[in-house]
Amino acid sequence: MTEQELIQTAQAMLDRAYAPYSRYPVGAALLCADGTVFTGCNVENASSPCGICAERTAVAKAVSEGHTDFVRLAVISRADGPCTPCGMCRQVLYEFAPELELLCCGGDGSVLKTGLRELLPHGFGPDSL
Ligand code: THU
Repeated sequence: MTEQELIQTAQAMLDRAYAPYSRYPVGAALLCADGTVFTGCNVENASSPCGICAERTAVAKAVSEGHTDFVRLAVISRADGPCTPCGMCRQVLYEFAPELELLCCGGDGSVLKTGLRELLPHGFGPDSL
């Protein structure tokens, strides 16, 4: 799957987002080494700490299906400017894929290409224990 296709897959998830509180829908698409793609959206809750981000939705779907070999993640919102993963999502992604490539996208067509090591320098991971 091309980078553009991964972004389009994430974009399609915006309609699945459940974000009545923030009104900030987010979609994600997580590419695995074997080409499998897992999608996610944010799922909010009346009790705000119970909400989950799009990226962690995708990670949970992937891991629960036996996939942890993540290569690239596309994440997108409808707002202007690139949507970058929150700190909690960066940590969760780092657990499985410190070398993960990221395509952080916005509704205005902006795309920030970066890497998880840039977003989470000196991260704490399995090798730290
Ligand atoms: N959110 C994500 O799903 N991913 C991000 O990268 C940034 C934030 C969600 C969490 C919450 O549902 C809403 O966006 C506003 O913070």
